[in-house]
Amino acid sequence: MPITIVFSSEKGGVGKTTSAVNIAMAFAVGGYKVLLVDMDPQGSVRFSFGLKGPVANGTRQLLTDESISLAQLTHRSEAGPNLDHIFANFDTLSQEREVLNTVTEPTVLQARLEREAQEYDFIILDSQASTSMLALNAITAANLVILPLQCESLAIKSLKRYLKAFRELQNRYNPDLRIAGVLLTMYDRNMEVHRRICRQMYETLYESVFTTIIPKAREIPEASALGQSVITYRGSSIGSTAYIRLAKEILDKFKLRPEQASI
Ligand SMILES: Nc1ncnc2c1ncn2[C@@H]1O[C@H](COP(=O)(O)OP(=O)(O)OP(=O)(O)O)[C@@H](O)[C@H]1O
Ligand SMILES: [Mg+2]
Repeated sequence: MPITIVFSSEKGGVGKTTSAVNIAMAFAVGGYKVLLVDMDPQGSVRFSFGLKGPVANGTRQLLTDESISLAQLTHRSEAGPNLDHIFANFDTLSQEREVLNTVTEPTVLQARLEREAQEYDFIILDSQASTSMLALNAITAANLVILPLQCESLAIKSLKRYLKAFRELQNRYNPDLRIAGVLLTMYDRNMEVHRRICRQMYETLYESVFTTIIPKAREIPEASALGQSVITYRGSSIGSTAYIRLAKEILDKFKLRPEQASI
């Protein structure tokens, strides 16, 4: 049975897509079979992999059209055989509205993945910063949620509010969902405010914060601008190393490591 991980946050621009793309690649290069699903109508995953043209079949059909099989919706990654994508293809606002009108239950994605995505070891969901029906579907389908957070002054406040909302969602839609951890992103150790907030996070939330911190690193947006993960773009850079380390931390923390894998 696959482990489904959703990247979620209340705030936008905190590194959800970047983390989803790179953790998916880290698991894939480590020998796991991974499906990365873009649940954000912005479609950032598609751009992170350099896909510019329209996508005929993608997340819209995943949520609304069962006559198209999951295999028809997936694109094999150019970066290797272990990574498949389902890209968001909400090209107009009316397409997004149409999906939101059709998808009235938060269990649609969960049911579809349970029926058709059992061959994967990991399913990674990139969610949007909202509590729309799309975000609820992503949360309901997941086993683990990762909360990316930037070390900024409003971060703790926003996290507290998110955790409150999260408990409500958990009680209502998915009691089995666990928080995998808070992931500190875009950390700049030269900034006093980052160091202070990072310290506060560990003092307040202890082991709920991943030991791995994702540094602010030039190669990460560079890779994305070139349509690549940082792992394929600069394998030995600090950005790439951080995501590989995070993948190992997740495997260890949840004792998920099957024998065939190499990370
Ligand atoms: N570790 C990092 N170092 C430097 N830049 C980063 C890092 N992580 C992400 N970025 C950049 O920060 C911006 C926001 O990241 P990203 O798109 O992953 O956030 P997001 O949470 O998915 O945003 P949204 O809420 O809009 O979906 C992007 O331009 C990305 O390239
Ligand atoms: Mg995003």
